[in-house]
Amino acid sequence: MCGIFGYVTSNEEALGPILIAAAERLTYRGYDSVGAATINRGKIDLRKDVGKVDAVAAKYNIAEMRGQRGITQLRWATFGEPSQVNSQPHLDSMGDMVGAHNGNVVNNVELREQFMAEGMTVRSQNDGETCVHAVERYISRGYQFIDAIRLAYGDLQGDYTFVIGRADDDKLYAFKKGSGMVVGLGAGFTCVSSDLPSILPLTRSVIRPHDGEIVTLWADHVEVRSVKDGKLIDRQPELVTETMDAVQKGGYPHFMLKEIHEQAQVARELLHLLDGSSDVQPLIEKMKSARHLYFIGCGTSYHAAMAGAVYFAQLAGRAVIPILAPQFIAQYAPAVGYEDVGIFVSQSGETKDVLNALEAAEVRGMTCFGLANVVGSTLTKATSFCLPLCCGYEISVPATKTFTNQVVTFLYLAYRMAGKNTSDLARIPELMEQTIEMVAPQIEKIAQDINEWNDMYCLGYGATYPIALEGALKLKEITYAHCEGMLSTEFKHGPLSAVSKGFPIVFIAGPNDVPLIISGINEVKVRGARTIVVAEDDPRLRANGDDLVVIPNSDPHTYALLAVLPLQLLSYHMSVMRGFDPDFPRNLSKTLTVD
Ligand code: AGP
Repeated sequence: MCGIFGYVTSNEEALGPILIAAAERLTYRGYDSVGAATINRGKIDLRKDVGKVDAVAAKYNIAEMRGQRGITQLRWATFGEPSQVNSQPHLDSMGDMVGAHNGNVVNNVELREQFMAEGMTVRSQNDGETCVHAVERYISRGYQFIDAIRLAYGDLQGDYTFVIGRADDDKLYAFKKGSGMVVGLGAGFTCVSSDLPSILPLTRSVIRPHDGEIVTLWADHVEVRSVKDGKLIDRQPELVTETMDAVQKGGYPHFMLKEIHEQAQVARELLHLLDGSSDVQPLIEKMKSARHLYFIGCGTSYHAAMAGAVYFAQLAGRAVIPILAPQFIAQYAPAVGYEDVGIFVSQSGETKDVLNALEAAEVRGMTCFGLANVVGSTLTKATSFCLPLCCGYEISVPATKTFTNQVVTFLYLAYRMAGKNTSDLARIPELMEQTIEMVAPQIEKIAQDINEWNDMYCLGYGATYPIALEGALKLKEITYAHCEGMLSTEFKHGPLSAVSKGFPIVFIAGPNDVPLIISGINEVKVRGARTIVVAEDDPRLRANGDDLVVIPNSDPHTYALLAVLPLQLLSYHMSVMRGFDPDFPRNLSKTLTVD
């Protein structure tokens, strides 16, 4: 996830060390490229490249950079591969302005084309540069800077925070739309950043602008204005008291919990990106004309592939084969050909099992697409086209937000395959927020009740079958208990013999599967099991299950996506109650680059 930092002081200073230190404190967000720009006596000095902060800083001697204003940016690639030219900050056509952003400008491709047609010098594919040209467009038409930003804001669709400075004045300007921004007020300087960690060692006096606000930073004060009418807004500074560790985790005790809570926001950003993407329709056409469709992944990504296959069948009447990557090699690779299409799904884009399967498919001439979170990873380079998941950095080993965005992507693609209106999906982020709010206290209590058990089952059916598998994977991954995910109807074919008094079994019920799930509940209940049901509110389930964890009413597809949230929370709380660190479970690695 990108991060920006801008700094304004009244005298010429050695800004390089300040910018490097700020960049270091943004690294926890994840990045592939680093850049720094200073503005000194009307001249812009810009140095940037792909690589780690220390390596890029050493290579370009960023420490020697001086000036009254400075910007640094860490880039996590979404638009344009990781490269020197796509690194941020970016200059305008004449090199009179410099700016950087974090987030995504979803109409980047269209705007770049417009800017080129208008005669601007567009050097990269990156949407940070698009932000700079969006302001340049109105400056060159004679608008004052604040008005140029206001108009640019209207052109730039998506969720982002942007900082920009021009060579011939003494300020920086920042604006916020859907992404984080914090402004710091220090003795003799002001600064702005995507989040607190880069600011806190400098000052604890901060202002938190809202979406749709423009901040002008001078060395000794800041002004906040509304983008709507340009009028001044009174935002008083607050004093931050949290520790650095708490701040990096956004105030949450663990990254996993923070990432669970980020799911609504990243889903929102992803849906904006998909709506604005010109790459989706060609992908749909390819999938429509495919002989066979395969969704291929491992672990959590495989569960998302399974959910995707259910959505494709139910919504678009299109059969898809979801398959674990190594099994694809054994079972399907010998039979695939150029008429077939595969989507390779991976958070990291580096999972060796997935890359092996990709190689086996490519040898047979299959058309291979990717779905990955880490842009610039091997998968994104090795496939003919790879959709980004837009989750930013997922630090905790258990995948949470990348799973939900994989499922959201498949749901979106299924809607497009079916010719349905994707605007119906816009309410998903809000439903996710509601779900977390509704289930959180109850789940904590259930976690306490069942925490003594080292054997559990999660059962689902249809779209909730992959959700049951995913819930079980989360539980075993971070509680170290044995938890099996299973199709609910299979339980009677063997595992039923394991049931004893109090044995916890989680059922995830879709609104159309209630009678079937009630049969399953009663089969195990009469044998002493404690049944925990995750579902939309239903009197039949209330009457039959021991605990009903109610998720908001949605539609016949979205409920499955919402149902994973209580399971993520259950595994998180049980892990913490057992004294484990859910972020870094024993024996596991976030990126599995081995066979
Ligand atoms: C999920 O919580 C796990 N950490 C694991 O199953 C993971 O999903 C799997 O290793 C695949 O990783 P990928 O998505 O990066 O390819």
